[in-house]
Amino acid sequence: MIIAVDGPAASGKGTLAAGLGGHYGLPHLDTGLLYRAVGKAVAAFESTPEFEAEAIAAAQSIDLGDLHPELLASGEIGSLASKVAVIGEVRHALFAFQRDFALRPGGAVLDGRDIGTVICPDADVKLFIVAEARARMERRARQFEARGQIVDREALLSQIEERDARDRNNPNGRFFPASDAVLLDTTELDIEAALRAAVAIVDETMARKARP
Ligand code: C5P
Repeated sequence: MIIAVDGPAASGKGTLAAGLGGHYGLPHLDTGLLYRAVGKAVAAFESTPEFEAEAIAAAQSIDLGDLHPELLASGEIGSLASKVAVIGEVRHALFAFQRDFALRPGGAVLDGRDIGTVICPDADVKLFIVAEARARMERRARQFEARGQIVDREALLSQIEERDARDRNNPNGRFFPASDAVLLDTTELDIEAALRAAVAIVDETMARKARP
């Protein structure tokens, strides 16, 4: 079974996708980490003419060993990720990696922005996670605070909204729900309730597809 989980920054899609992976015994790939790893690798080239070529080269040589969530979590790396994500050749270079992961025997859960539309248009179940920007900011702020960081909430909200806009208008990876995706609004849900709702959607979708 392949499960695609898409959604905007800090919507909880990564936590939900990991929870679904645990529930169904499927490996999970947070595809945002690929873009974050590329963004981090080319941070020194931001605002230079070499940025694009360096990002393409970094994307072409990425591997699973580069994906350390704890080193890639910052808002600044998230912004860099969204800047490399608009480069068509970066997306192209990361396509095969994601597709191979999805096609592992037994299936997988992938989360990102274009899983249900581009990477796995044939996924068995597609979830599209939404949550109000302020709720997403608050969740991210608490994650940073739990790590002992001091958070400027208004600056964090602007950063999230700026990233939303860049992702929404990405000419090489427009971000929108697949026509067969099921929307899940997590604004009012804690993680346990969101995971229960996601599992119910997966079970209902699979049961529906199994009917003659
Ligand atoms: O999901 P996360 O917030 O970690 O993603 C970081 C950035 O990577 C996103 O803002 C987006 O620009 C880019 N991304 C993407 N396609 C994906 C996953 C992430 O364009 N499948």
